[in-house]
Amino acid sequence: FRILRRPFEFSRRLLKVESCSITESKSLIPLAWPSLTQKLNRTRGIYLLSQRRKFSTMPELETNQRNSELFTPPSDVRGMTKLDRTAFTKTVTIPVLKVRKEVVNKLMQSLKRATLRRPGIKRVIEDPEDEDGRLIMLDPYKMFSLDSFEETELSILKQLNVNPQISKYNLELTYENFKSEEILKAVLPEGEDVTSGFSRVGHIAHLNLRDHQLPFKHLIGQVMIDKNPGITSAVNKINNIDNTYRNFQMEVLSGEENMMTKVRENNYNYEFDFSKVYWNPRLSTEHSRITELLKPGDVLFDVFAGVGPFVIPVAKKNCTVFANDLNPESHKWLLHNCKLNKVDQKVKVFNLDGKDFLQGPVREELMQQLGPLSKERKRSVHIVMNLPAKAVEFLSAFKLLLDGPPCRSELLPTVHCYSFSKDANPAEDVRQRAGAVLGVSLEACSSVHLVRNVAPSKEMLCITFQIPASILYKKQPINLENHEDPPLKRQRTDKAFSEEKIQIASKT
Ligand SMILES: C[S@@+](CC[C@H](N)C(=O)[O-])C[C@H]1O[C@@H](n2cnc3c(N)ncnc32)[C@H](O)[C@@H]1O
Repeated sequence: FRILRRPFEFSRRLLKVESCSITESKSLIPLAWPSLTQKLNRTRGIYLLSQRRKFSTMPELETNQRNSELFTPPSDVRGMTKLDRTAFTKTVTIPVLKVRKEVVNKLMQSLKRATLRRPGIKRVIEDPEDEDGRLIMLDPYKMFSLDSFEETELSILKQLNVNPQISKYNLELTYENFKSEEILKAVLPEGEDVTSGFSRVGHIAHLNLRDHQLPFKHLIGQVMIDKNPGITSAVNKINNIDNTYRNFQMEVLSGEENMMTKVRENNYNYEFDFSKVYWNPRLSTEHSRITELLKPGDVLFDVFAGVGPFVIPVAKKNCTVFANDLNPESHKWLLHNCKLNKVDQKVKVFNLDGKDFLQGPVREELMQQLGPLSKERKRSVHIVMNLPAKAVEFLSAFKLLLDGPPCRSELLPTVHCYSFSKDANPAEDVRQRAGAVLGVSLEACSSVHLVRNVAPSKEMLCITFQIPASILYKKQPINLENHEDPPLKRQRTDKAFSEEKIQIASKT
């Protein structure tokens, strides 16, 4: 026993260094390489069993492994409402492997599975006992004794002539070493949901706290700032987004009061005051989906443009854009962002109510785009209406909007209109409501895209369709056979609509 033990006397000498210490596990009997070879060659299960009976491994570490609270902050932080970072300090015992410094790089890749991963904790530290030695921190949930190494790991240790004995190290954990979830779980009442998710808008973490989290709101805000690089302000939404301009009423929980921010979406830059305009980072995929649909030379009308997340990428594709928003702040930042992204020559910006925009600038432009000269034109016209709570109502503005003879069916504008739905069949619900406003069935001539799930059983959808000529034009197509647009052909089943169309046709 003593002969075996002598070569490993070094770890016994490791003493406490300030708050950290490394100690040899008294109960761990180191194995010399011959016995390791034996270990590799024997049937693993039988050998491990006999080995365990002969030598107990590291009792404390085994206890730690069972103790899922090893990496939880001290229990007396429970109920803390004002963040005291010093109260999170505690010492834990970590398994370590003592190695020569020159083998560290070669070893780390092979020991990836077994090493400790904690925020702010180095996986390799200097051996306080030996300036040429290093300690590799091991994962206390996986590594208890020699048995915990996999055979490939043991084999590389052997190749590099590293003693596989596991020692213990007293590691001081501080606030910096805990993850935000661990901190909030330790602070908030036991068993309560600590979801610490947020939307990131530039330097701002935008939270949506529940009632039970409100007493801890300033602490939660500060933890979000501390734990998320680049976040310097945490705000909480204090109303539902039901005001006209769709901006949030928000309370700054911690950090900077300044809500002037910069974001990058789909490779374009946007600047705005987040307290005054609408911005939702969850819409970036939708913004690029619509952008993809347009080709260079096409025309986009964005009725509810916000600060420009559809406008800028579409204008960058060499399309002509007419962008509108009723909020003077959105209008201001929309102009700014067009300049910022160097598309101000491609975009005409308006500050009107959506209906006035459709019946004014949109109507005027459509009359030109779709007018008699349109025979030579091939460009598509798209109209985006992203105001999901209300946009469907604005569809009525298209009714009999244009004078003159209807354009060729392929030139009819394509509308992308957003809506929320809580219906069991949301796509059908949106089709039905949009159709009801226009007075047509959109059943067979529209597609509905699910944008995102907004809340349990509340979806955001986008219905896309070409506005039927019979809706858009005061003057109706005379010859149904030659002049009918494709959507109408598909709409013949809609009896009421067909009758209305025939009536109008016979009047003209
Ligand atoms: C949901 S946001 C969409 C903004 C942007 N298109 C986007 O995708 O992020 C709706 C925008 O419509 C604007 N808005 C609300 N009511 C309006 C109205 N009646 N006419 C025009 N714009 C309106 C709001 O100011 C807001 O910027």
